[in-house]
Amino acid sequence: MSDSPQLVDRFGRVISYLRISVTDRCDFRCVYCMDEEMQFIPRSELLSYEEITRIATAFSDLGVSKIRITGGEPLTRHGIESLFIQLGQLENVKDLTLTTNGSQLARYAQKLKHAGVTRINISLDTLKTERFKALTRTGKLQQTLDGIDVALACGFNKLKLNAVIMRDSNDDEVNALVDYAIAKEMDISFIEEMPLGEIAHDRALSFYSSNDVLEEIQKEKQLQAVPEKTGGPSRYYQIDNTNTRIGLISPHSHNFCDDCNRVRLTSEGLLLLCLGQEHSIDLRQILRDGASNDELRQAIINSMQIKPKGHDFNLKAQPIILRHMSATGG
Ligand code: GTP
Ligand code: 5AD
Ligand code: SF4
Repeated sequence: MSDSPQLVDRFGRVISYLRISVTDRCDFRCVYCMDEEMQFIPRSELLSYEEITRIATAFSDLGVSKIRITGGEPLTRHGIESLFIQLGQLENVKDLTLTTNGSQLARYAQKLKHAGVTRINISLDTLKTERFKALTRTGKLQQTLDGIDVALACGFNKLKLNAVIMRDSNDDEVNALVDYAIAKEMDISFIEEMPLGEIAHDRALSFYSSNDVLEEIQKEKQLQAVPEKTGGPSRYYQIDNTNTRIGLISPHSHNFCDDCNRVRLTSEGLLLLCLGQEHSIDLRQILRDGASNDELRQAIINSMQIKPKGHDFNLKAQPIILRHMSATGG
């Protein structure tokens, strides 16, 4: 394969990052992500691990260097370590990463390390047991905290926390979460809630801007903006005298679509060109129609022509994207 980037969209953006959702199921029901009652995709509709590996190999051949496994909760899919082992062998993929709610991490961290996972992002929106139960509807805080500790003990040096902050829900815990991240020498990203799928609360009322998060932290800590990027959407600030960086993911207050470097594969094989739009191609169909590897790569190259400029999130209107985040993997 040539060294020049092969996945370039109409706006000149180079695609080097593939996010793969391996399941839309999850053992939690986080209030910002899912409705209480959810219809999940029948298991027979999911891509097999062989199909996911074929698609990931095509992306690696086309110059993709970062893959993130997401869900739903990826660690709830049976036999998932075999997928990590396959993906860990892809030649161009330097960064094999996972986003998880941490509930199964104590059991899996060592296997993930062996498979070549380089970084893990763990969702943690509160440190209060009862609030954790309320926000996730089904989760147990201690299980996630144990998962974090086991992952740290396995030697993952770049663990990141993700916290979705919502007004009058967990906005009083910004600094407590920062202190926890400092104590564990982890980074932490604060995320503005995105309008994906219908959920029980009004997202316009729960909106809490990254600027407010930053102000809250600056009351207690000295921060320095850092230019470096991880290839993700966070803007980072180093906290003085710590090994912790604050990331801000601000789809509403600081749109980052101009720098977009990623596409998403859903668990049923749709290649989504943008988190906040419907543009997609059906890679499962292409595979099951018997495409050769050349044809698969060409279909992926062609899809760059329909990658949209960006999202049109509007918290005051009904969500235009009916997929919940759990179906897309964030
Ligand atoms: P790293 O930067 O590699 O650590 O990861 P990341 O922040 O890209 O991934 P993660 O899975 O931890 O996602 C954190 C949040 O960023 C989630 O809420 C995602 O939905 C959001 N996010 C990731 N990519 C995009 C994107 O392209 N657009 C939007 N609007 N949000 C995104
Ligand atoms: N808006 C913002 N972030 C969300 N996540 C799930 N649903 C939403 C939403 N509607 C976050 C999770 C996880 C990451 C993959 O996406 O907390 O950290
Ligand atoms: Fe599950 Fe993550 Fe959605 Fe929570 S945010 S319900 S942990 S997929």
